[in-house]
Amino acid sequence: MATVFNRNLENIMLHPGTPRPRRLRKNDAVRDLVRENHIHVNDLIHPLFVIDGDGRPEPISSMPGQNRLNIQDLCKECVELEELGIRAVALFPSIDGSLKSADGGESCNEQTLILRAIRAVKESVPGMQVLADIALDPYTTHGHDGVLTEDGQDVDNDRTLEILSAMAVLNAQAGADFVAPSDMMDGRIGAIREALDEAGLIKTGIVAYSAKYNSAYYGPFRDAVGSSSAAGTTLLSKASYQLDPANARQAEREVMLDELEGADVLMVKPAGPYLDIIRMTRESTSLPVAAYQVSGEYAQIHAAAKLGWLDLVRCRDESLLAIKRAGADLILTYFAKDWAKDYSSSS
Ligand code: PBG
Repeated sequence: MATVFNRNLENIMLHPGTPRPRRLRKNDAVRDLVRENHIHVNDLIHPLFVIDGDGRPEPISSMPGQNRLNIQDLCKECVELEELGIRAVALFPSIDGSLKSADGGESCNEQTLILRAIRAVKESVPGMQVLADIALDPYTTHGHDGVLTEDGQDVDNDRTLEILSAMAVLNAQAGADFVAPSDMMDGRIGAIREALDEAGLIKTGIVAYSAKYNSAYYGPFRDAVGSSSAAGTTLLSKASYQLDPANARQAEREVMLDELEGADVLMVKPAGPYLDIIRMTRESTSLPVAAYQVSGEYAQIHAAAKLGWLDLVRCRDESLLAIKRAGADLILTYFAKDWAKDYSSSS
């Protein structure tokens, strides 16, 4: 007689014989029948980088297959993504160095690149859901997500909130369906929700980067938008606002606060190294949970595949499935297009 642990009955006695869980894995058909988690193209959000001018796509060397696109090419890319069944993109501007300043003032210029990009995408692919990143790092000379205090020793939380709120309103007015504050300032979800509501932008949602960690996996992204100067080597690191990778309880608190302040979707970032945080977030809220498989997660799979050490497609699919299994409803991933090319039935 075999004894196994049963979820409901504690230890129960089984019928005689060896338990044979392999029966449920014996062939494709059975495995397909009992599969618990699936990726669907509807779950995927493609992050895209935009540049000014009419130049050719600029490949991002640490992110194979990803390019900085001018607005026209960005719109073409969105058409292709839509044809593949991808219905949401997250847009990030890579602005000219001459437009950067200590206070990131360009972020609130009504003709700034990202606003023109959002308008163009919504015009050419109206159904595409656009997430606009709200943070100052693409606009500041120091690369921080907010403005600095006078002594330059810290990010000025509350002054940053005012700028982020104005920026969120501009992005929403340009047509963004969701604003996605990625700055990790205290109180920003509440401040942004209030500003949006006051401007009558009640339909614009907030995807909150709630549990955003101070991660080394953002390296390639910082190359892409040119914000690497604050990555910990100069001035102060982002550790005074992004979460400490050693901590889970602080993430729980951030998630709770963002929900109370009015977020519509809660995000965990990075994804793969933080599956426990995704699971915890899934269990602590009834809101949708998003996970961001960040640039470094994408880069490491590509790098190993290039060396012939890992199978690109299998690792890509396994990494996405793990994020889903951990409890993510939506996944931001640079693999979205390639995944959809391989599997999306709408293609
Ligand atoms: C910053 C922001 C970052 C990413 C998205 N928004 C980088 C950072 O915090 O320095 C990283 C995304 C990625 O690595 O793919 N507002």
